[in-house]
Amino acid sequence: MTEPILPIDESTIERLVREFLACQRNPVLYPQDHPLCRRAIHKLLLSLEDFWLRENPFHLIAVGEDILVNGEISLVKYEDSLRRLEEIFLYHHIKKILLFKGLTEKELTDLFSRLSFGRPPLLEEQDHYAIGEGIYLEKALLQTERKTKDDYTPSSKGAIKLYNDALDVARRMAKQVREDKILYPKEIKELSWALVDFFLKRKDIMVLMAQLKDYDDYTYTHSVNVSILTLAQAQSLNLPQKTLFEFALAGLTHDIGKEVIPLTILNKPGKLTDEEFRVIQNHSLEGARLLKKTSGLPFVCAVAAFEHQMKYDGSGYPQRRISGEHHLVSWLVTISDVFDALRSTRPYRGALSSEKIFSIMREGEGTTFHPTLLGRFIQMVGIYHRGTLVALDDNSIGVVYKVNMLNPQRPVVKIICRPDGTLLPVPYLVNLCEHLPGSERYKWTIQGVFNSPYLQVNPLDYL
Ligand SMILES: [Fe+2]
Repeated sequence: MTEPILPIDESTIERLVREFLACQRNPVLYPQDHPLCRRAIHKLLLSLEDFWLRENPFHLIAVGEDILVNGEISLVKYEDSLRRLEEIFLYHHIKKILLFKGLTEKELTDLFSRLSFGRPPLLEEQDHYAIGEGIYLEKALLQTERKTKDDYTPSSKGAIKLYNDALDVARRMAKQVREDKILYPKEIKELSWALVDFFLKRKDIMVLMAQLKDYDDYTYTHSVNVSILTLAQAQSLNLPQKTLFEFALAGLTHDIGKEVIPLTILNKPGKLTDEEFRVIQNHSLEGARLLKKTSGLPFVCAVAAFEHQMKYDGSGYPQRRISGEHHLVSWLVTISDVFDALRSTRPYRGALSSEKIFSIMREGEGTTFHPTLLGRFIQMVGIYHRGTLVALDDNSIGVVYKVNMLNPQRPVVKIICRPDGTLLPVPYLVNLCEHLPGSERYKWTIQGVFNSPYLQVNPLDYL
């Protein structure tokens, strides 16, 4: 007697796709043999076994900009999942993924180790890819269109122009929302592509731009800096360009809900009442609402706005009603957000030194911040990053020229100012790893870090 064929409902499909995406995402953050990865694969396999009772194989197919799951059933309701699937398909040049009844856990593990964004595109060279008899992937013939705006030369000058343009866009974005209660996405999307394009050419200058502190207008510099720092973190995870664009956009808009808060509360110099504090906290939700209803924006913008004040350990705000993990974008935005806030001069305190910032952030490792991502961020930004203006123990002043990865405390520094305070006509390089002749002692040691406006020099001019 044949078994009755049960219909496949949307929740089954949605669950399978969610589990598939969890398996694909985990190897970016954890080693392949980590219990989280193994558990996710085991869970997916169980769901697939249930699915195969009704239909075989389970297949995902890209049609234009849509992904179809098992033929007719589209995932239109699950926009975020759909976008993630699209990213995977685009990045790895995939047209079709078929998962056949009987595939093993080992085959699935093999698939997801290759489907990670950190690996080279799976179908770049070949037309198809098979793992055992259970998995078959077919190549997509069409490549995606890139939307670019490339007006910026990959130089310090280009970076300054782009940064200033970005500030203008951030100002206009805030004004639109405050005055008209609306957000027009075209300009911020163009800006995000411009940031991605520039970043991929001159990552060093871009990261530095986001760290030059003491600009006048915190609100706008903060949006732009969070965008750049989030983009930098995303790129260090080898995420595809479309994701870099979306994450840069999410960084830019993460605090847009503040534009809905009355200025009397937002700029209140004294202590806030409980009610005012609640209104301020509500900016996460207000921002997410606005971004969600703005058509043409990726879903991650609303997600980052909503989640960026939630902490890794589940505290923070808004309080979670259901348990669940943050989206990767929110973990990254939270790190960029706190780092930039601590680096900036605020009405109630000065900008903090890099050492102080990292020691504060380290205290939040595993509670406020995702520990792996925080470690990567600190490694990326470094204590004395390229372009930092430093004072040495002989009272000379220089610009960090090259970070020494083996000893980040001892970079190569370009000396620009003599111990007596006069600017050198011809700056020169010193390596802080050099010892005094015949001694264990170093020739120079960094005594402190300067803000560039204090000395009226632009460190970018010396790189
Ligand atoms: Fe915020």
